[in-house]
Amino acid sequence: MNSVRNFLSVYDLTAGEMYDILSRAALLKADRTLGGGYLKGKKIGLIFEKSSTRTRVSFEVGVAELGGHPIFMSPRDMQLGRGEPIKDTARVLSRYIDGAVIRTFEQARIEEFAVYFKKPVINGLTDLYHPAQILADIFTVYEAKSKMRNSTKKAADAALRDAGDIIKNLKIAYFGDANNMANSWISLQAVMGFELVLAMPDGFKADEWVASESRKRGGRFAVSHDKIGAAKDADVITTDVFISMGQEDNKEKIDKLKPFIIDDGVIGSAKKDVIFLHCLPVHRNEEVTEAVFERFSPYVFEEAENRLHVQKAIMEMLF
Ligand code: CP
Ligand code: NVA
Repeated sequence: MNSVRNFLSVYDLTAGEMYDILSRAALLKADRTLGGGYLKGKKIGLIFEKSSTRTRVSFEVGVAELGGHPIFMSPRDMQLGRGEPIKDTARVLSRYIDGAVIRTFEQARIEEFAVYFKKPVINGLTDLYHPAQILADIFTVYEAKSKMRNSTKKAADAALRDAGDIIKNLKIAYFGDANNMANSWISLQAVMGFELVLAMPDGFKADEWVASESRKRGGRFAVSHDKIGAAKDADVITTDVFISMGQEDNKEKIDKLKPFIIDDGVIGSAKKDVIFLHCLPVHRNEEVTEAVFERFSPYVFEEAENRLHVQKAIMEMLF
């Protein structure tokens, strides 16, 4: 039996494991030295076929803080970039390193790597999903809504017992393109059970395969073309770039999405204590106005920091 655990999509973890990760992340955030020996002697490869600031650096720092050795690899400098098949790269690397974080294009590519690598693999973003990001996002939401900082295991566990109830009762409204972030919210909803509305222009809809995977697991979400209605009484408003990496700059698509910019009207329709999140990088005055972005920037940069703590908890569990 292959007992290797991967995190290629949200569905690779149970809800219980996700709450364990959030609980552990709270402790790791309160004490950056905690978990210092977890990855002692382990070499973790970071293979990035697309650009990255947050994911690359937070994983690199996270491996180092857990006592492991991160090895960053760019296809520009690897034979992978000259056409060496990913299954050969995987078979070679598995003889050198103990785990891998991969950012790539098709989900099938990371899945193929994982089959041949036979050691834990974490998805650092594909065209389909961004699962490490979405766990950091829900951690940030939970932190903001529970207004708790948990510095002891007992406090973290007690708080996390309530987290399910807090999260289940939230309304989260995602604005913009039906991309890897939208798909990640859809899959997280199927596991954690909050109310999810996707606000997007007429003619846009959720990825059909992602929607059917969510339905199989009892997930539910709404798609709305009415941006003020979608935001009504929301606890969380979130968005992402209109054009994702690997897509062509598509003016027609941007023009269609433009009316769905998050502005004061959207925020005004949400609950008074709404928070705004963005995985970054942001395109100011495209998906969100500069004013809204700056007003909520403390949450957005907390969200960016939380990548580190949540990913350390994921790595402790998988590596
Ligand atoms: N949010 C995110 O994944 O950022 P990077 O592209 O900088 O890694
Ligand atoms: N949807 C964006 C997310 C970047 C972190 C992209 O794939 O480019």
